[in-house]
Amino acid sequence: MVPKRILVTGASGYIGGTVLKALLNSPSKAIQESEISVLVRTEEQARVLKERFQVATIVFNGFDDTETITNVASKHDVVVHTASGFATGCARALITGLAKRKQAMGYQVQYIHTSGTSNIGNSPYLGLYDEEPSGVFTDDNPKKTVAALRRMNAAFSYEQRETDLAVIETGIEQGVKTYILMSADIYGEGEGEFNRLTIQVPKMIRSAYREGQVWVIGDGSGVWNHVHVHDLGLLYEVFVARLLEGVVIPHGEQGIFFTENGEHSWNEVANGIATTGFELGKLKTKEVRTISLAEATAELGWGSKMWTESGFASTARTSGTLARSLGWKPTRPKEDFLEHFRDEWNAVIAKGF
Ligand SMILES: NC(=O)c1ccc[n+]([C@@H]2O[C@H](COP(=O)([O-])OP(=O)(O)OC[C@H]3O[C@@H](n4cnc5c(N)ncnc54)[C@H](OP(=O)(O)O)[C@@H]3O)[C@@H](O)[C@H]2O)c1
Repeated sequence: MVPKRILVTGASGYIGGTVLKALLNSPSKAIQESEISVLVRTEEQARVLKERFQVATIVFNGFDDTETITNVASKHDVVVHTASGFATGCARALITGLAKRKQAMGYQVQYIHTSGTSNIGNSPYLGLYDEEPSGVFTDDNPKKTVAALRRMNAAFSYEQRETDLAVIETGIEQGVKTYILMSADIYGEGEGEFNRLTIQVPKMIRSAYREGQVWVIGDGSGVWNHVHVHDLGLLYEVFVARLLEGVVIPHGEQGIFFTENGEHSWNEVANGIATTGFELGKLKTKEVRTISLAEATAELGWGSKMWTESGFASTARTSGTLARSLGWKPTRPKEDFLEHFRDEWNAVIAKGF
């Protein structure tokens, strides 16, 4: 059989670097026999990844370089896009390239997209949605998720939701099977060669360090899920292996997968950061202070209250039933998440505030 060609985007990033490692260490014969390429932004990233892993490397000029993106995707059978859940044009260009590949080769091609559960976070402070998302979103009930994405986006346009909807629509239009892996808070040390830090907890740590104290927005009662980045890498690997083995996996409107292994409240996060930061001598107090959404938005410097609310104060509860049915066995329980804050502090200290 001709080896399949897998393209990984974002391989210099936190998720993508870990996913690349998981693919390279895969026990799956189908993956071992495949050719892996990475699409990166700099010659230096390409050099390092080629030297260390003998992967094929392609350098491009970023998400606006859609001609190159489509051209590169048209030479691959599976695209694992981890670089961004926000760049609609890039996602469309990748799917368009895969459609060309399908036409040229006469067999099915697959697109795996990376997204986040801030998409389905409620809006307790801004009150953005007439009908608040509620309950636990499960990936064996994709109708509820897709309906929420459409309804919420009609009320408030959010780039990551826009991109997910565009992925589904473009895949259907072009006959490409699309799968969206929607993660909550990914934590733990990344396994790639470049960025190894995640987003949410390091942002809160840096802000707490500047202020000398940890904050939480409002009553901190919102609930999110988490997944260790190593476990997440294994899910992408299992996903690609199953696809290459010919397993039929729900796709398009049915293909939204939640990647979680437990849930936590914002209070638990704030208290974990405060206690460990105080023990490490980086904070003056282990008391957590309450701040408003406006103050947190200014502190994070994002300029968007919606982003701050959905990413640091909302409730977004999910369950990854379908993800587990593929054979994914995440190993890090909630205790691991609650104990990881010291490591996260040390990683931020090592990188610099
Ligand atoms: N980390 C989480 O907890 C989490 C959870 C859910 C969803 N997500 C989403 O997953 C995506 C990746 O997250 P991450 O944590 O892996 O981020 P990351 O470590 O910052 O990695 C981003 C990757 O995308 C590349 N990239 C960034 N901007 C680009 C541009 N304009 N053109 C081309 N490439 C670009 C980066 O390349 P360079 O190295 O050249 O900058 C890097 O390889 C984000 O959209 C994020 O919101 C993350």
